[in-house]
Amino acid sequence: MNKQVKIFDTTLRDGEQSPGCSMNLKEKIEVAKCLERLKVDVIEAGFAISSPGDFESVKTIAETVKDCTVASLARAAVKDLDAAWEAVKGAVDPRIHLFIATSPLHMQYKLRMTEEQVLEKTAAMVAYASKYCSNIEFSCEDATRSDPDFLVKVCNLAVAGGAKVLNIPDTVGYTTPAEMQALIEYLMARVDRADEIEFSVHCHNDLGMAVANSLGGVLGGARQIECTINGLGERAGNTSLEEVVMAMRTRPDIYQVETRIDTTQIWRASKTVYNIIGQSAPLNKPIVGKNAFAHESGIHQHGVLANKLTYEILTPEAVGIQTNNIVLGKHSGKHAFESHLAEMGYHLEADELLRCFDEFKVLCDKKKTVSDADIEAIILHKKTRDDDVEIEGGFELDWFAVHTSNFTTATCTVSLKRGEEKFENVSLGDGPIDAAFKAIDGIVNPPACTFDIYNIHSISEGKDTLGDVTIRIASGGKTYVGRGLSTDIIEASIKAYIIAINKLMATQ
Ligand code: KIV
Ligand code: ZN
Repeated sequence: MNKQVKIFDTTLRDGEQSPGCSMNLKEKIEVAKCLERLKVDVIEAGFAISSPGDFESVKTIAETVKDCTVASLARAAVKDLDAAWEAVKGAVDPRIHLFIATSPLHMQYKLRMTEEQVLEKTAAMVAYASKYCSNIEFSCEDATRSDPDFLVKVCNLAVAGGAKVLNIPDTVGYTTPAEMQALIEYLMARVDRADEIEFSVHCHNDLGMAVANSLGGVLGGARQIECTINGLGERAGNTSLEEVVMAMRTRPDIYQVETRIDTTQIWRASKTVYNIIGQSAPLNKPIVGKNAFAHESGIHQHGVLANKLTYEILTPEAVGIQTNNIVLGKHSGKHAFESHLAEMGYHLEADELLRCFDEFKVLCDKKKTVSDADIEAIILHKKTRDDDVEIEGGFELDWFAVHTSNFTTATCTVSLKRGEEKFENVSLGDGPIDAAFKAIDGIVNPPACTFDIYNIHSISEGKDTLGDVTIRIASGGKTYVGRGLSTDIIEASIKAYIIAINKLMATQ
């Protein structure tokens, strides 16, 4: 029987705090639900003290999630620990995750503390946190650049104070797999009651080695991996959940461990997170990139046709990629649609189902064949979009008309709805999309903003494919993402822009 490695997901904390990845409350709840379906062991829902918004989202997630431990990060400080506990205490299994830096550089320049002071603080704050809760995780920030013997001292105090999990972060992505393995072995051999403690690794990806370093930690005896969906996180990101989980699953002969992750939920979780932050996977991203399972070269195709194992070490089905295409069409009824969604792993509330079915029918009129990828796009867009459209006082597209050619200036007339009110405007522009956005600006009158991202990608093959448009605008140091889906890319762009603008206006 292989040993169990716990998966601690920090998409909503380390991932969310990185630039361009911020999420609103509803989006965070959507991600938390994905993580619960994935069966991660721990969800780090945020850093409760960092803002009222973070506090609220940690609290809501703690009260919503039933099948995972929910943690809040806290510095080793009384007010942080108070806020962390207030936020997570409603969880089925709450955890406080506190940290203090232990490397000479961090202690001297960031904390301005001596080793003695760090030791004292550790003992006092772990004991303080333990009064609230028995599930305490303690992290030595910048552990891989710390003196290993000092780490032993800090860890011993944390264990004495009641910590049950000792996390060893490679905060700046500096270590190597062999070094991480050796460090975990070193600590496990010296820290008091090491056999009762869960050792954990938290690796950043600055040198592209976060996954390899986490696996090094597992070989050294770590039994918890901290990671994020799609490897989101500070700078070059964290260990990617999908990569590290599939590596352990594909090579049990090497790692001799297992996780409780339902890998068939990986694809959906990855898509949901990319959708929310307005990014998409690089084509060659392991596990979730478009090309991860594509065999283009003749030699590879020949091999795969003869025997899949020639070039395929894991299957798309194992990570939940839909490969059985085109079963539904114009004449399919709601029940067929619903049972097909269930086969794809989607169980929608009655009203969501109805709205997705309506969109599916509209699409059937526009497209000859509707693929599973199209259906999945409708569902994921619906889930992340409805809330945005419903922003109080938000605008919705009523209709638009464009005129464009290669010898005249483009014009767009747009009609927007807000409740019962309708607003019309017309504008010229440098192309139909610019004209449309200017017409919208004329109605909404948003504050100055810049375009960070404007992406169009096709959901499936064929000229009639659905266009998936992502727009990210920035204003006042914050970013706002909108996505639109349509077989008409101007319509998709207009819808995406309206959502981004609604989000921006909601903060004014
Ligand atoms: O990278 C890091 O050191 C962290 C800790 C706060 C766990 O994110
Ligand atoms: Zn980190």
